[in-house]
Amino acid sequence: MSKNELAKGIHWVGAVDWDIRDFHGYSTYKGTTYNAFLVIDEKVTLFDTVKHSHKGELLRNIRAIIDPEKIDYIVVNHVEMDHSGSLPELVELIKPEKVFCSPMGQKAILDHFHRPDWPFEVVKSGDEVSLGKRTVQFIETRMLHWPDSMFSFLKEDGILFSSDAFGQHLASSERFDDEVDLSEVMKESAKYYANILYLFAPLIQKLLASVAEMNLNIKMIAPDHGVIWRTHQSEILAAYDKWSRAESDKKALVIYDSMWHSTEEMAHAVSDGLLDAGVSTNLVNLQVHHRSDVMTQVLGAKAVVLGSSTLNNGLLPRMAGFLMYMRGLKPTNKIGATFGSFGWSGEAVSLMNKALEEMKINVIEDGMKVKYVPDEEKLEECREMGRRIGKAVCDSFDK
Ligand code: FEO
Repeated sequence: MSKNELAKGIHWVGAVDWDIRDFHGYSTYKGTTYNAFLVIDEKVTLFDTVKHSHKGELLRNIRAIIDPEKIDYIVVNHVEMDHSGSLPELVELIKPEKVFCSPMGQKAILDHFHRPDWPFEVVKSGDEVSLGKRTVQFIETRMLHWPDSMFSFLKEDGILFSSDAFGQHLASSERFDDEVDLSEVMKESAKYYANILYLFAPLIQKLLASVAEMNLNIKMIAPDHGVIWRTHQSEILAAYDKWSRAESDKKALVIYDSMWHSTEEMAHAVSDGLLDAGVSTNLVNLQVHHRSDVMTQVLGAKAVVLGSSTLNNGLLPRMAGFLMYMRGLKPTNKIGATFGSFGWSGEAVSLMNKALEEMKINVIEDGMKVKYVPDEEKLEECREMGRRIGKAVCDSFDK
């Protein structure tokens, strides 16, 4: 078998994007892959395509195996452009007998490409299609990541093409989880979950339960990004279960931005108090941490403590941007608190409290404000606040 073969006759034919560093606002320092899969059977079938910029690589990979015009079916598991950008040219070239997609997938394809003449075959959860020796079972996974998303399960081989779920933005020449550093794959999986799927946690819980009920004999999970899970499936399934149950660790984050170091001094004092209370704490300066890396840390933290100076009656712009980003991802089951320095009006603390409350984060302090520069007495108050937050974190684990 070649290094890109998942099983005999089932080939990875996707593309590796080594250079991408921003994925709609998510920092992708390690690049990504757009995975597509070709199954050679009586009906030759292509599962997903790739971003438009990488269609040449997809076609080269297909041509190394078979003339693309011999492809009979295209399955569109997800219509976001990183997986469908090449679809119009592929349909034009292949002239497939059928294009399989979910009901919402057909709508999304029409809204993207405006081609009602394509040979759509709309499938719902539980529908099956025979490729010859193999059977594909379709499982709709609405909102994971878009309304159109679905899984395709190759029953005889036990291979689940899982679209965005269980993926990682990780460029690699290796295709499988047991060929790369597992800790790096898990880290990138957590980042992917925190920045793409976090808000859909209740749906993920339902999906995991319904997949367990279906009793599928899953031997391999092949997402549309990153490496394929052929050895560590149980680890990624357990991680998704933990993340979607909003379980966190006895950890706190002190996330802040500062104008003239006063809020920064407060952040260090709050962090010292949290550490005094026995809570592992990370200081996260928004001037040097990208919002998507901060969200990865939020996923595992019980307490989110925010600090911002007041600027022009509002928040420092990095904090405002971070809060906008975090609000959309809807973290749950967190304790929150706020602090910040000010010169004359001091709205930052109440604005951060309001944002946390809107996210249904349990704000347990009124917020600590300091005019201009904190003295030792104020810094001790910050430490005391940190100790109280730390106690609340510990109490939440003792229940
Ligand atoms: Fe990888 Fe939702 O697209």
